Amino acid sequence: EEELVRVQVLAESKISKLPERYIQPPSTRPTPSSTSRSPSSIPVVDLCDPQSDWQIDQACLQWGAFRIINHGVSVDDIKNIALGFFRDTPLEVKMRYKCPDVGFASEGYGSLMVANSEVVSDWRDYFDHHTLPMSRRKVENWPEFPSNYRKIMAEYSENMKKLAQRLLSIISKNLGLKSSYIEEVIGDVHQNIVFNYYPPCPQPDLVLGLQAHSDMGAVSLLVENDVCGLEFLKDGEWVLAHPLPDAITVILADQTEILSNGRYKSAIHRALVNAKLSRLSIATFYDPPKSTTIAPAFELINSPNSHPQYRGVTYGDFVSNWYGDGPDGKRTLD
Ligand code: SIN
Ligand code: FE2
Repeated sequence: EEELVRVQVLAESKISKLPERYIQPPSTRPTPSSTSRSPSSIPVVDLCDPQSDWQIDQACLQWGAFRIINHGVSVDDIKNIALGFFRDTPLEVKMRYKCPDVGFASEGYGSLMVANSEVVSDWRDYFDHHTLPMSRRKVENWPEFPSNYRKIMAEYSENMKKLAQRLLSIISKNLGLKSSYIEEVIGDVHQNIVFNYYPPCPQPDLVLGLQAHSDMGAVSLLVENDVCGLEFLKDGEWVLAHPLPDAITVILADQTEILSNGRYKSAIHRALVNAKLSRLSIATFYDPPKSTTIAPAFELINSPNSHPQYRGVTYGDFVSNWYGDGPDGKRTLD
């Protein structure tokens, strides 16, 4: 079988017409911004603000996502090694880290989110790192240049784990649960850190960098370069989230929707691409182990007028269903 071409290689080949498999049907193409009424934008929460817990509750209720500033994590080093990998590393070196073209979320350098030929391909290359627990961490699968690459990954992994736990404790309290509730239910966190690289595209109006989806785990933390592209679905309309330097975007994922018994909804989002500029994002996923069963919190279904809206399901079964269906909205939650 023919080897899958990396999107960056296609972009650099200066094609003027896109291969068919990247072209979205009209219904899922980017919406011209001129046709949508002026939308509100995703909330920004200053974690040093005394009102921040309340602001996070409002953002979770209205958007399922928000941006945080004054979060205490430096994101410069991680952005530099990510950009350096895609932009400054020769293809033959990058291909030493290639992950299988088919298969689920395997570690390494790849291009496909879902190995399903009926799904339109994303205009994206990625590098997926399995960072936690330590038993999954195989640093030899990560690039060895620059010489501090692996050290920067390890530090970022630790910082983002702590930041996610801080946010999950605020979210737990906002739901009326004890602050350690979500962290304890998730258990031994499975953390993946994915670098997403969206090369310039000659026909950006016909493609998506990443098609619409909600994330599957508990919460995702996203860092971006200064190129626009992230959109959230809000009240039936796509709303562009303009990049904010040094902010981190917090995206509630499906297991938090289930735990909260639907009080919070996971955010549906997608990525657009640019005609001239390369966009970079770094997603850190906070997921439960596959064997963990996630169900609505007892405290939230324990009154006569609050029935469970979701069945408990192991995370492994949840993920298999998602890959079976394809990332079309959030069918897995139905
Ligand atoms: C993601 O959904 O994981 C990434 C979205 C983005 O690149 O903005
Ligand atoms: Fe996502």
